[in-house]
Amino acid sequence: MKLSLCLFLLLAKMVCQDYEDEHTAYNEHDTWSDAEIPFAHLPTFFDPSINIFEYGDHYIQYTNECASECFCPPTYPYAMYCDNRKLKVIPNVPQHIRHLYIQFNDIETLSASAFVNATSLRDINLSNNKIRSSQVDRGIFAKMKNLAHLHLEHNYLVDIPAPLPSSLQRLFLGFNQISKISADAFQDLVNVTMLDLCGNKLTDFKGKILPKMKSLMQINLCHNKLKAMPELPASVMQLSLENNSISSIPEGYFKKIPNLMSLRLSYNKLQDLPYNIFNLSSLMELNLGYNQLSKTFFIPRSLEHLYLNDNEFLDLNISLMCPSVDHTRPNLLTYIRIDQNKLSKPLNNFIYSCFPRIQYIYYGEQRVTQQLFVVASPIQDHHSAQQSSPVQAI
Ligand SMILES: *[C@@H]1O[C@H](CO)[C@@H](O)[C@H](O)[C@H]1NC(C)=O
Ligand SMILES: *[C@@H]1O[C@H](CO)[C@@H](O)[C@H](O)[C@H]1NC(C)=O
Ligand SMILES: *[C@@H]1O[C@H](CO)[C@@H](O)[C@H](O)[C@H]1NC(C)=O
Ligand SMILES: *[C@@H]1O[C@H](CO)[C@@H](O)[C@H](O)[C@H]1NC(C)=O
Ligand SMILES: *[C@@H]1O[C@H](CO)[C@@H](O)[C@H](O)[C@H]1NC(C)=O
Ligand SMILES: *[C@@H]1O[C@H](CO)[C@@H](O)[C@H](O)[C@H]1NC(C)=O
Repeated sequence: MKLSLCLFLLLAKMVCQDYEDEHTAYNEHDTWSDAEIPFAHLPTFFDPSINIFEYGDHYIQYTNECASECFCPPTYPYAMYCDNRKLKVIPNVPQHIRHLYIQFNDIETLSASAFVNATSLRDINLSNNKIRSSQVDRGIFAKMKNLAHLHLEHNYLVDIPAPLPSSLQRLFLGFNQISKISADAFQDLVNVTMLDLCGNKLTDFKGKILPKMKSLMQINLCHNKLKAMPELPASVMQLSLENNSISSIPEGYFKKIPNLMSLRLSYNKLQDLPYNIFNLSSLMELNLGYNQLSKTFFIPRSLEHLYLNDNEFLDLNISLMCPSVDHTRPNLLTYIRIDQNKLSKPLNNFIYSCFPRIQYIYYGEQRVTQQLFVVASPIQDHHSAQQSSPVQAI
């Protein structure tokens, strides 16, 4: 999606500029929206009311210094734009630069010499290059004591470019070739809230690699080769594990991550889950599509969206999903997707008493061998539990 920013300036001159929306651009694998300062990299001349001096700077020595290959907006002296320039090496980064955009180039090597003066860096975007682990100078990032956001997604890394600075808050390593993570790779990263390792070749997460990251809230491990659930710090709220090879979840696993709000486990090999496994007080989104589940499990009160499509359910025992109905504290489920299972009859009407907020039941087509059940309109709209005719009936 492009966000078109058009501002009428004085003398009725119109300046329009298109910017890639960084959030949607990186959303193909379904991460939660990015909470980074969205306009951190926009030149401030679009808003004359904003002071070009960032907070805390009473005086900056104005400098034109900029690598000749790059562009440094005169009114936004902290940023250097070097993206999409077919660069093979990193240009020299001047001392005052805080935001460095160098994505979409052909960079293979990260050598410390380009960064000798760059002590102010806070954001680096090196995504979509050709960076190889063997050509990354050891400790190159550790020296950047202010670095908060590091984008290294879509490169050829085979391991984490450790050591990393403890100032780091968001680390993007998606779509590389990382197959193993050394025990100290994430040492001292106490302020990292977001870690993206989607699209790598990870097979396991043994040895307490992640539990040291005490602030970690979101972790993306989708499109890897994990066979077991990873060991995580208690702070995690969003966990993305789509498209791995996980076949079970140990009893009590979520007791160690009690604040979990979103769990994505579609495209795995789950067969049998402990009945109480999702008894969590904050869970809102649960995606278990494309697995081999057939047994009903307990649905926590907080859950709003449930995806069970493309599994092996022969029926859905609503009384098991919802063992008791408390009208003073109703269950919050609004959406359930159950298409592409083996259901042979409509869901029991008890579902509307149990989940009074339910709005959509996506029953769709079922893979029944004898008869084929098809619903004319796959999304069934249900606005009120009190409605007399059950909407999901076939
Ligand atoms: C980093 O670069 C990628 C392109 O590879 C782009 O999608 C993303 O928006 C950029 N992020 C930031 C924070 O600059
Ligand atoms: C670092 O700064 C010094 C002094 O300003 C300058 O001479 C040198 O060329 C700079 N080096 C790089 C790699 O930018
Ligand atoms: C982590 O964040 C806290 C709060 O913002 C800050 O006080 C602390 O200095 C940070 N730690 C490091 C190692 O940067
Ligand atoms: C799962 O990940 C593999 C790479 O590991 C990829 O080739 C495949 O397309 C992914 N499948 C889905 C359904 O996303
Ligand atoms: C869920 O856990 C709570 C305590 O955490 C417990 O009281 C309740 O019985 C559990 N519910 C089920 C269905 O296991
Ligand atoms: C649901 O499961 C309970 C407990 O196993 C059982 O007693 C009940 O008959 C089942 N209900 C249906 C509709 O299958």
